Amino acid sequence: MGKRTLLFILGMLLLIGSAGCSTGDKKASEPKKVLKVGTSPDFSPFEFMDEKNQMTGFDIELIQALGKQMNAEINLQNLSFDGLIPALQAGNLDAIISGVTITADREKAVLFTEPYYQSGLVAAVRVENQEIKGWDDLKGKRIAVQIGSTGAMNAEKIEGATVRSFNLSPDTFLELKNGGVDAVVNDLPVVQYFIKNHGAKDFKIVGVPRDAESDGIAVQTKNTELAKQLNAALAEIKKNG
Ligand code: ARG
Repeated sequence: MGKRTLLFILGMLLLIGSAGCSTGDKKASEPKKVLKVGTSPDFSPFEFMDEKNQMTGFDIELIQALGKQMNAEINLQNLSFDGLIPALQAGNLDAIISGVTITADREKAVLFTEPYYQSGLVAAVRVENQEIKGWDDLKGKRIAVQIGSTGAMNAEKIEGATVRSFNLSPDTFLELKNGGVDAVVNDLPVVQYFIKNHGAKDFKIVGVPRDAESDGIAVQTKNTELAKQLNAALAEIKKNG
């Protein structure tokens, strides 16, 4: 290599180097990785559509914050809840954040991050219902649930119960209001939020929350690297409040 070529290359390297530095962020020159994250935005306060038809909620804010922490762009995908795990397994998603409860069965299909939220299941009935006061009273009753949810799995175990499954979580409450079912079984924060915002005069929660459940972010079983990065980012965010 001639001296001139060498000088030229050195000059270029310096230029590239200073261009990188001028942004004050070394990572800026690396292309941002894009994470395809699936969610079912029918689950306020975790994920729902706002007035501008944008996905919003606790999970959405959390995943955006994690993305920032990981220098990754979050590409949100709106899917039905029961389609999320199959889409992840098929490789159409990198991750799921959708108030997904960590269960032993699901752990066979996906890899979960550390839990980020502690939840639990409750039943809701119409306010005038004096018969159903707790879980035991749900035997033989008609119960509305969201397809594929832990609420559905739980309701199916209740003796003699007729379980009606709905694609979207809010439709279970509509069915309860219309008298199509006697109760809804769903996650406590979602039931609380729904009653507070849409049904204070129509519904009430009965019984004590069942199955302390933890929500986690799911990735493909083989994607231990992404799980590791998400866990590190989660720990960082928890530390910073
Ligand atoms: N926590 C429950 C489950 O994992 C319900 C989650 C439903 N999430 C949703 N975005 N609709 O089965």
